[in-house]
Amino acid sequence: MEKILLIGACGQIGAELTMQLRAAYGDGNVVAADVKEPNSEIRESGPFEHLNVLDAASFGDILERHSPTQIYNLAAMLSATGEKYPLKAWDLNMNGLLNTLELSIIHEVKKVYWPSSIAVFGPTTPRVMTPQETVMEPNTIYGISKQAGERLCEWYHQKKGVDVRSLRYPGIISYKTEPGGGTTDYAVDIYFQAKRKGSYECFLKEGTALPMMYMPDAIRATMELMEAPANTISVRSSYNLAAMTFAPEEVAASIQKEIPDFAVSYAPDFRQAIAESWPASIDDSVARKDWGWKPEFDLDAMTKDMLEHVR
Ligand code: SER
Repeated sequence: MEKILLIGACGQIGAELTMQLRAAYGDGNVVAADVKEPNSEIRESGPFEHLNVLDAASFGDILERHSPTQIYNLAAMLSATGEKYPLKAWDLNMNGLLNTLELSIIHEVKKVYWPSSIAVFGPTTPRVMTPQETVMEPNTIYGISKQAGERLCEWYHQKKGVDVRSLRYPGIISYKTEPGGGTTDYAVDIYFQAKRKGSYECFLKEGTALPMMYMPDAIRATMELMEAPANTISVRSSYNLAAMTFAPEEVAASIQKEIPDFAVSYAPDFRQAIAESWPASIDDSVARKDWGWKPEFDLDAMTKDMLEHVR
């Protein structure tokens, strides 16, 4: 029987992944953990532990008490906030991962999941259909921490036998839990403002295409990767993962098909430079070949679903 510890359970991805894992593995078998207070859905449906992933003693104590077979560590500081607090971002993103990997060995955890990001790529990376293996010179602290983290994952797999698995998430769009501090967050906010105000001021310029994915696809990708037999996993750094790619005016046009009066203006800030350093589209053929990845949602299907659910 699998028992899972998910750290970062109050975040944009963690909150939804916790509930999906509970549905799949049983509510009592998925321990949610975070530094923050959980929402009522997470608190009432299964076990919750307060945990700062940097506190190795408390982390070890939780592993001792729950004996999970799998750890998902989703605690991280994202790209835009990371540029404001670089040392904190580095500490959380790197030492949180190191604690996870080291403690997974001590406590004989069978599988580890850790998310990477399109932020591992940089301005010298080929921008269109960025391949799995390519030039990687990230220039944000977040991207540097994810790139170093990928090297750690591969090292712990090769040298210590840790069954660690990872995905390079594109921008993730969802309506349940807000994202925080990311460069791709505009693509979430634009739906909320379309419903609430009928207009949106975008912090990226027209023409800034970025790889994106709807949350149900991101959750399914994560669970499919973790359920795949170990011998099908050829990438132990992190897999490229793709679903769609769009620029702000394209998501605006998709929303206008449902809300014709929706208006967008553009006021780019420091996040424009971050976006311009990242790929416009991603080649995820290795994930498709190794464990059968295939996205379901395109832009218009996502827009319809988002606008139905956003309050
Ligand atoms: N969504 C993240 C960010 O914008 C990228 O991984 O920081």
